[in-house]
Amino acid sequence: MELRQSLGVELPVIQAPMAGAQLGAMTIAVCQAGGLGSLPCAMLDATAIRREIGAIRAVIGSRSFNLNFFCHRPPVPDAAREAAWRKALAPYYDEFGLDISAVPALPSRYPFDATSAELIEELRPQVVSFHYGLPDVPLLERVHATGARVLASATTLDEALWLERRGVAAVIAQGLEAGGHRGHFLVDDLSLQSGTFALVPQLVRALRTPVIAAGGIADRAGVEAALRLGAAMVQVGTAYMCCPEATTSAIHRQALLSEAARHTALTRLITGRPARGIVNRLMREVDDAVAPEFPLATAALAPLRAAAEARGSGDFSPLWSGQNASGCRAVGAAEMTRALAGA
Ligand SMILES: Cc1cc2nc3c(=O)[nH]c(=O)nc-3n(C[C@H](O)[C@H](O)[C@H](O)COP(=O)(O)O)c2cc1C
Repeated sequence: MELRQSLGVELPVIQAPMAGAQLGAMTIAVCQAGGLGSLPCAMLDATAIRREIGAIRAVIGSRSFNLNFFCHRPPVPDAAREAAWRKALAPYYDEFGLDISAVPALPSRYPFDATSAELIEELRPQVVSFHYGLPDVPLLERVHATGARVLASATTLDEALWLERRGVAAVIAQGLEAGGHRGHFLVDDLSLQSGTFALVPQLVRALRTPVIAAGGIADRAGVEAALRLGAAMVQVGTAYMCCPEATTSAIHRQALLSEAARHTALTRLITGRPARGIVNRLMREVDDAVAPEFPLATAALAPLRAAAEARGSGDFSPLWSGQNASGCRAVGAAEMTRALAGA
């Protein structure tokens, strides 16, 4: 069956789930325009997920939407790494007059677990997507048993084949251009990863499973090119970040719409896992290797981020962006979806 039909959407556009940059308002607008809207759950607890889905369903009724989760292993606390991290950040704490000993080391991103599986059984989204691999088999079986179509990100051919063996409905080919976190899960070596134009055709040739292209797609021509390469659909993130429905901060929006967005890089400094964002002072001055395991880096950064943002600066903020921010516009997410699809 054609992928769009099996996911229950008209247009070939999936709005990328973007934890920290959107809630259900974005999902609603994209679904109403005929695309597949997504709700990222990595930074939401069960109460917030129920609330957002209630709001989504109140407007879109029985239309399909995508519920997205991270599948990382919870971090192993490591006092020595945390101490090295705080030492690297100490000069900035001094600069802002902050107390580094007062930072609580709380995790900030939740992995898919038994509670998440219960939520899927209760809320029954038509589509569930995963970043960083898949949940363990018993949990994945529970998701499949609800009838949900399962999508997952791959950054290499090996990862795509691994996902296909586990029965996903489609593989999201995440090229290196993509904004936000890299979705790799088999190996950490970033030199194995390639750009969208290189990745998509290789996956299309090797898989029986449909491929969704993600990374650097920002306008209708990009969507058409991805479909010509054999992708069944596209997943677009960065282009949606300046839509009014996004929760992107004013500082971040300004950076996305400025020349600064021409320089992005992969960094582990913000969360502990490689992610692409606009280069800022933190990325220029601190050694990437010093960040603790994902997602522990966020805790000690939070006070610095808040202090800098209070002064109107994104020096310590996650300024997530893909390499192609040229599609960012302050237009509604429904209009963005139709423009991407040429509808
Ligand atoms: C701000 C931001 C947050 C993201 N958060 C998630 C997430 O929560 N889950 C996920 O599967 N992918 C996430 N991604 C990655 C997207 O799924 C997708 O791979 C990427 O946006 C595609 O590249 P583009 O940004 O160039 O369009 C995020 C991307 C951005 C820009």
